Amino acid sequence: MRPNTPSLPAPSFAGQDILSVSQFDRTKLEYVSGVAHEMRVLVERFGGADLLQGKILANLFYEPSTRTSSSFMAAMMRLGGQVIPINNVQYSSVSKGESLPDTIRTLESYSDVIVIRHPEVGAAATAAYYGANPVINAGDGVGEHPTQALLDLFTIVEELGKVDGLTVTMVGDLKYGRTVHSLTKLLLNYDVTFRFVSPEILQMPSDVLDAVNASGHAYEQVEALPDAVAGSDVLYVTRVQKERFTDLAAYDRVKDLYVVDEELLTQAKEQMIVMHPLPRVGEITYGVDDDPRAAYFRQMRNGMYVRMALLAAVLGRA
Ligand code: ASP
Ligand code: CP
Repeated sequence: MRPNTPSLPAPSFAGQDILSVSQFDRTKLEYVSGVAHEMRVLVERFGGADLLQGKILANLFYEPSTRTSSSFMAAMMRLGGQVIPINNVQYSSVSKGESLPDTIRTLESYSDVIVIRHPEVGAAATAAYYGANPVINAGDGVGEHPTQALLDLFTIVEELGKVDGLTVTMVGDLKYGRTVHSLTKLLLNYDVTFRFVSPEILQMPSDVLDAVNASGHAYEQVEALPDAVAGSDVLYVTRVQKERFTDLAAYDRVKDLYVVDEELLTQAKEQMIVMHPLPRVGEITYGVDDDPRAAYFRQMRNGMYVRMALLAAVLGRA
């Protein structure tokens, strides 16, 4: 996907929150992917630009993160902006009992945009309610992870050159994995066929399946991974989300059910890509890393370009 044709006005994201993939239609997705592609070229040629000089990002993480947190920070810095990093809320006044609204009011008075990751579904929306500046959802519990879905889509386009007509197979923890919730809903903008591979207790939630049904997209739910691999264009692997389980014995029963290894890939298309939001904890063997179909590290890097595009867009500088 490339930027819109000159005759179409570019969609404006200036001042907007990014809370859910439901905010995006194809025009907006093509715009974000187009700007992300330009950011990639910019970084590869010059390392960055001064687009966001004078702007400050408050990066507020109530849950662990390596990629999302550091790629938002890198994105801001590569565009000439600066960052207030609050990656350990236990060292902030949150540990003294400060509420989310007050934390947002505080950070908003020092910054121009807030990125938030929080264990509760809807927390980013709450933050957006109390903040006048743009708020970006970096993962709200088992809800959504919209910027991950945007970078996933960008990766599919960069790797395979299209989205329409693809068969996308999602594997693992489809119940608690917020990345697959967001990506499935985002892909409803395209003509894709879904295969959902999980044990029964980790199936895709009914609200996501309802959305797939309502949009008329075909999908199948299966438990066996090898059957689903042949014919897939995208194999999107996920980690079983240990931190969401109340019963750790149940986690132990399902944590090692699916492993993507070199042998499994002998059954896959030559052009298929293996994706994973990461971190991986055994679902993809290290032996797969050298296979050209292993796209997960490229996917991870794409996160920075997409987040550069989003920050520039919501701050009115895209
Ligand atoms: N990093 C992704 C997330 O925060 C996926 C994962 O943690 O398994 O949702
Ligand atoms: N993909 C992702 O969200 O990674 P982190 O949890 O490390 O941010």
